[in-house]
Amino acid sequence: MRLDKYLSSVTRLSRSQAQKAIRAGRVQVDGEAEKNTSRSVVPETRVILDGNETGQPGPRYFMLHKPQGYVCSTGDPQHPTALDLLDEVITDDLHFAGRLDIDATGLVLVTSDGQWSHRIVAPGRKCRKCYRVSLADPLTDLDAEKLRQGVLLRNEPQPTQSAELEILAERNCLLTISEGRYHQVKRMFAAVGNRVVGLHRVSIGNLELDENLAPGAYRRLSLQEVEVVT
Ligand code: URA
Repeated sequence: MRLDKYLSSVTRLSRSQAQKAIRAGRVQVDGEAEKNTSRSVVPETRVILDGNETGQPGPRYFMLHKPQGYVCSTGDPQHPTALDLLDEVITDDLHFAGRLDIDATGLVLVTSDGQWSHRIVAPGRKCRKCYRVSLADPLTDLDAEKLRQGVLLRNEPQPTQSAELEILAERNCLLTISEGRYHQVKRMFAAVGNRVVGLHRVSIGNLELDENLAPGAYRRLSLQEVEVVT
């Protein structure tokens, strides 16, 4: 990986700030001053910025636009994992703050901070997740109302908690839930006899998927985004 990219992945510097820091002589690589921004580094390379070691990154937070075909797990023998989309030097400390099915798309949060992800996924925190849903059959007003009030999922004794549902078109809606049961959205629509054919997560808590991120792209969260998510 290039030095400028490495530096921005292990510090809070943007890529262009990292380039400026390197050109300004603020960076040492393996004990020597280095001004070449494209110099190649590996995880073992010792990189020092302003006299400080950069090998031990602090907690890291990313938003990713997950495309179809990727699983949100840290290791899967059969499918590529969404972590493969992150061009980071160190990924073994990263995990997902909430999963998306292999065929679903949209906002996925990835972090090395277990306390932060706990705030997002812990059932008691009731973090809101909004999904754009495409359906096989038209959604009736009656079914929409049932989904808002709570439906019984197959093999579960408790109905779902109240949800927000906005009908966008005959077969399209926005659904906001504050639980995270297994395949919840698909099972909610199955409970009213419909079928999800497209599922895209638009937001988690107060964070919306950045519209500048194409499927497969990701970026770091700003400090403010990290703080406001829940
Ligand atoms: N609900 C689902 O059914 N699938 C997801 O990926 C997320 C929520």
